Amino acid sequence: MDTHFTLNNGVTIPAIGYGTWQIENGPAAIETIAEAIRTGYRHIDTAACYGNEKSVGAAIASCGIDRRQLFVTSKVWNTERGYDSTLRAFDRSLNDLGLNYLDLYLIHWPASPHRFSDWQQINASTWRAMERLLRNGLVRAIGVSNFMPQHLAALLSTAAVTPAVNQIEFHPGYRQAECVAYCRELGILVEAWSPLGRGKVLEHETIAALARHYSKTPAQICLRWILQQGILPLPKSVTPSRMKTNLDLTGFELSAEDMQRLTAISYCGASGLHPDSVDF
Ligand code: A2P
Repeated sequence: MDTHFTLNNGVTIPAIGYGTWQIENGPAAIETIAEAIRTGYRHIDTAACYGNEKSVGAAIASCGIDRRQLFVTSKVWNTERGYDSTLRAFDRSLNDLGLNYLDLYLIHWPASPHRFSDWQQINASTWRAMERLLRNGLVRAIGVSNFMPQHLAALLSTAAVTPAVNQIEFHPGYRQAECVAYCRELGILVEAWSPLGRGKVLEHETIAALARHYSKTPAQICLRWILQQGILPLPKSVTPSRMKTNLDLTGFELSAEDMQRLTAISYCGASGLHPDSVDF
């Protein structure tokens, strides 16, 4: 199992990222993120809407690790869609993070047809700003999040740059298989948000049985299943012992039959957040 994936523009990305959703800005957040870096995470996933970019930045500034050894992702929030506001939002994120470049910048959610009659144009103009940031060397790769095939197809009809990444909800019980297949065809790396189904799938009997069989934690079984499909998991934990085991996914391999058992788990643990129905 490689420790990195290579994006479609040649940039390498650590194969496991530390998710920071719901880690609230403040001294505790700085300590939690610093602990994650000490534990060995080199890939940190944040977003303007998480409200914790200042804490992520403070943890990075104090961690003593060379900036080039870290991979930092942030995302432009839905209220900032469009060319000019995306450029402004990026500046704010960079400033809050205290950095002079990002490794990856994502459109957090697509504008969708149920809310916007001109959703294609909105996404296209946001993307043009992302392309400019890439051209200007302010970000090493650009991508999207929560884009379904219809959003991607529309974006690609005007895009000069194919997104490097699509970050979607993905865990046992919620695989979005059609979207994953479409991304693979296009050479877009899929990143999994809530790879543990926000902890809700960990007691599933299939996962619990496999955890016993491999002498691993249920979370390690989920994360390994994701990695073995060439998908990049972004587990979130504020608990040091869990941070550590969630990062320790080498030294065992799920058999083809066990992969299939996990794939066969029926719908469970999904957040219910879908770009065609969210009201934000
Ligand atoms: P905590 O942060 O208190 O450790 P997801 O990444 O799918 O969104 O899941 C995050 C949730 O899963 C958090 O509530 C987190 O709790 C919990 N979690 C993370 N890692 C583990 C683990 N190894 N075992 C059990 N629960 C975990």
